[in-house]
Amino acid sequence: MKVNRYWWKEGIVYQIYPRSFKDTTGNGIGDLRGIIEKLDYIASLGVSIIWLNPIYDSPNDDNGYDIRDYRKIMAEFGTMSDFEELLAGMKKRNLKLIMDLVVNHSSDEHQWFQESRKSRSNPYRDYFHWWPAEKGDPPKRWSYFDTDSNAWKYDEQTDAYYLHYFAVKQPDLKWENPEVRREIYEMMHFWLQKGVDGFRMDVIPFISKDTTYPDFKVSEPHEYIAYYANGPKVHEYLRELNQEVISKYDAFTVGEGPGISKDQALDFVHEDRKEMDMFFHFDLMSLDRKHGEVFSMREDPWTLPEFKKIFNDWDSAFAKAGWGSLFLANHDFPRAVSRWGNDSPEHWKNSATLLQTFLLSMRGTPYFYQGDEIGMTNVCFSDIADYRDINTINRYQQVLYKSGDVNAFMESEKHAARENARTPMHWNDTTNAGFTTGNPWISLHPNFSNGVNVADQEKEEFSILKYFQRMTAVRSKYPALVYGDYECLDPEHFEVYAYTRTLEDQRFLILLNFSDEISTYVLPAQIRYNRIVKIISNDLILDDQTYREFMLNPWQSIIYRIEN
Ligand code: NOJ
Repeated sequence: MKVNRYWWKEGIVYQIYPRSFKDTTGNGIGDLRGIIEKLDYIASLGVSIIWLNPIYDSPNDDNGYDIRDYRKIMAEFGTMSDFEELLAGMKKRNLKLIMDLVVNHSSDEHQWFQESRKSRSNPYRDYFHWWPAEKGDPPKRWSYFDTDSNAWKYDEQTDAYYLHYFAVKQPDLKWENPEVRREIYEMMHFWLQKGVDGFRMDVIPFISKDTTYPDFKVSEPHEYIAYYANGPKVHEYLRELNQEVISKYDAFTVGEGPGISKDQALDFVHEDRKEMDMFFHFDLMSLDRKHGEVFSMREDPWTLPEFKKIFNDWDSAFAKAGWGSLFLANHDFPRAVSRWGNDSPEHWKNSATLLQTFLLSMRGTPYFYQGDEIGMTNVCFSDIADYRDINTINRYQQVLYKSGDVNAFMESEKHAARENARTPMHWNDTTNAGFTTGNPWISLHPNFSNGVNVADQEKEEFSILKYFQRMTAVRSKYPALVYGDYECLDPEHFEVYAYTRTLEDQRFLILLNFSDEISTYVLPAQIRYNRIVKIISNDLILDDQTYREFMLNPWQSIIYRIEN
């Protein structure tokens, strides 16, 4: 089998949310020097690529996803010279860096928008989407973060509405204007020339709009998202971005891909199309959500066959071309172990390590979010005063305004809120988990004093952290775990997820018990081998004497190598 080897396919990504990683100034907010301080730790994890959430100058309406100046570091995070030192420190340790690229929208405080809103004839007017009021009400567009979900905001100064798919302070840039695209490409060169290795591209499929703003015959949020992701020129712009910028460097791009269906996947990442290298699909992130409501939890629990189907479908989408990305959590979703595992004391350790085993033995580039390596769990805030996120706060206002059920909303947010992932990293069991000596910008999860911290887990031989380090080493040792064919052995099994990964004569059998009970798994007859060797397990092996029937502890994961 011929594989196209690339460092970004073989890499393991560690995502850092700088605001919550490590504070060195005592202002309660993480900073770049905090990341510098922890570079040896990050390297010790066995990851090879760091993705930094936005670190650019921003008024922080949406924690850095509203950028005021694309070439300046956010003052709270440090300076450009801190950034350069950070990058040099990464290079010294063979760590690559990808930056967040947020170019569907800027901040309303960006100089472009400040100019654009001044007059209809301003040279920057056409950098954003405007709808003159004399044309009547603009066609309905849904907004993620607006208190009344309306993506058009009236601006008195020029008697016109501007478009914002996200918050009112995040006006959408007009990619249809070639000047806008030129500015963006120059800005990307600026960072690549400093030595960054690529970009994670925020809501990238949304960049192209039909500027006649036709009526969308839809009402539910998810129906808008599909429209947003299918603008008429999205592929043209992505190709241009690749040709003008990325192709000139040894860099890669991963798009955030809301609204991209698996049937469209290869249109974005087929190697011959030269658009982007991979993207994050949203099928898994929607599995436990109400379809039309995007952010609310569905009532019945998700099932393992549904979970497997998502991974099976997406793996087959990229089986012959393109490449996938694998993630179970990020800064926009709850913690992996609380969502896909079981964070109760009996099952926390096994389920956190099972999920690590899963991501590190699937085909695609795996992405881990800070704290997953120590099994950090959902904070489940119950008081609105604990929330800092515009998403929760604005939707709370909406519920109040519509006299909705506030208690039900708060209950759902305990499981759905982005804040679950955003509480500070736990370094040790001292005050504020060693994150800051000041007042943290958001409350911590109190379980840092209960073993959920780096220092304790570095000392303990069978900790989640130690397992993560062993498992990243396994991934890096065997090309079959990166490139090998994936075969799901039992798509309908409700407790066990069993699959093989095969590359030429290197073959692995992976068994994962996604349940709170002991499970017995019988290998299907078509799987034959002469020799079987255990590579890694997160628990004691109960019984695998026959090597056809396996008894698995709750949330146990085992990787075997099998040979003919
Ligand atoms: C996706 C980002 O991941 C999220 O945090 C942000 O709020 C929106 N895009 C808007 O930029």
